[in-house]
Amino acid sequence: MNITIIGSGYVGLVTGACFSEVGINVTCVDVDQQKIDNLKNGIIPIYEPGLEKMITRNMNKGRLHFTTKISDALRCSDVVFISVGTPPDEDGSADLKYVIQVARDCGKHMNDYTLVVTKSTVPVGTSLKVKNAIKEELDKRKVNIDFDVASNPEFLKEGAAIDDFLKPDRIVVGVESTRAEELLNTLYKPFTLNGHPIIFMDVISAEMTKYAANSMLATKISFINDIANLCEIVGADINKVRKGITSDTRIGNKFLYPGIGYGGSCFPKDVQALIRTGEEFEYELKVLKAVEAVNKSQKSVLFNKIMKYYDGDLKGKTVALWGLSFKPQTDDMREAPSLEIIKKLLLAGANIRAYDPVALNEAKHHFENTITYCEDQYETLINADCLAVLTEWSEFRIPNFKIMHKLLNVPAIFDGRNIYDKSELKKNGFDYFCIGVNTDSDVLRPEVSLSY
Ligand code: NAI
Repeated sequence: MNITIIGSGYVGLVTGACFSEVGINVTCVDVDQQKIDNLKNGIIPIYEPGLEKMITRNMNKGRLHFTTKISDALRCSDVVFISVGTPPDEDGSADLKYVIQVARDCGKHMNDYTLVVTKSTVPVGTSLKVKNAIKEELDKRKVNIDFDVASNPEFLKEGAAIDDFLKPDRIVVGVESTRAEELLNTLYKPFTLNGHPIIFMDVISAEMTKYAANSMLATKISFINDIANLCEIVGADINKVRKGITSDTRIGNKFLYPGIGYGGSCFPKDVQALIRTGEEFEYELKVLKAVEAVNKSQKSVLFNKIMKYYDGDLKGKTVALWGLSFKPQTDDMREAPSLEIIKKLLLAGANIRAYDPVALNEAKHHFENTITYCEDQYETLINADCLAVLTEWSEFRIPNFKIMHKLLNVPAIFDGRNIYDKSELKKNGFDYFCIGVNTDSDVLRPEVSLSY
């Protein structure tokens, strides 16, 4: 079987690499000439564990190709996956211009039966728009070529994308014909053999499933953050409360960690887009509006703690930052909490020394020379007035506290991901602040005021 993936970003590249890994002949298409040239030379535009090796291996085997020419790719494709971006429009709804453009390109260039599958995250009703756009182009050409559309939302997690694709919790497919169902069943067989389920449904339900899933995950994060903030006020410890609630199997123990808010290219835009879909149909999604509001304020929580520690005056203070990507194992900084925190710190007059294992180049696009980029986590601490941990990379988890204490100008740690133990930090002579635990009474430096 020959397949084409249109859009060679995070989703397109992982999808293309994984399908070629099981022996399928794959062509990845993108409009970005530079990206395609780089890919042809084995230069991968994103950091994703295992991806570079997998792409190189399958290119060398001759079953993974890259091109900017959609017409060439479509000439011999049985299935086409649309995996272009669906960024938020001005009003928060999903901007479908790239998806519809690709649909039109399919209509312009297909010359035999083709199954066009939308993998991008798109609102309900998009597959119908895709179908109409293809039909319009075929009508313009005055040709009568049979085709099907299907919806196959992607659930991979950046940082674990390859594993998620090869061993999915489930594959969701919305189809309108038996032919499409059979084709996708065959295509996904290598990934479902070991009991990973493929769930077929109608197209609208498949489109809705992706938004409902991401909204549920975002809700879990905002819920635990809201409870964490209350814990701090009433004197409870969110780490203990978390253990207490997550041992209930109905609640479960995944994705309920307090922090500094969700980010990334998906949750913020997908929650917003679902709210807009509700509005379009005159239905108010009250829970999701609250989820969004909590997340927005959560991105300020760590900054507020640093401000409070320094009596509301950060002018001339140096803040060391560990972690910039929106989560570990990725260089993706889209909507990362670090963006908000850095902007706020700079506005307050602070100097920033930042380290991230893979996102420094990405950060340079955002902040150019307004912050100092360090190649080592300890280098950030030199003469810094505190450390803020923004991403829970594994290498930050058991640091050398003695060296840290020596390097920091002021031994204060603001832990946005609750990765440290407060008693251990106190024992090592640090003032320690985290999310959802009031540690003010443990503060060792009597000269700092906590009344701001
Ligand atoms: P991305 O921004 O990394 O990649 C999109 C690619 O599409 C870019 O390389 C762009 O140049 C290309 N493109 C745009 N218009 C094109 C056209 N007409 N023809 C060919 N290529 C074109 O986006 P990403 O992150 O891969 O997301 C794609 C979709 O998948 C979005 O709808 C997103 O919501 C969804 N998704 C993303 C996940 C993630 O973790 N990044 C996870 C699950 C779904």
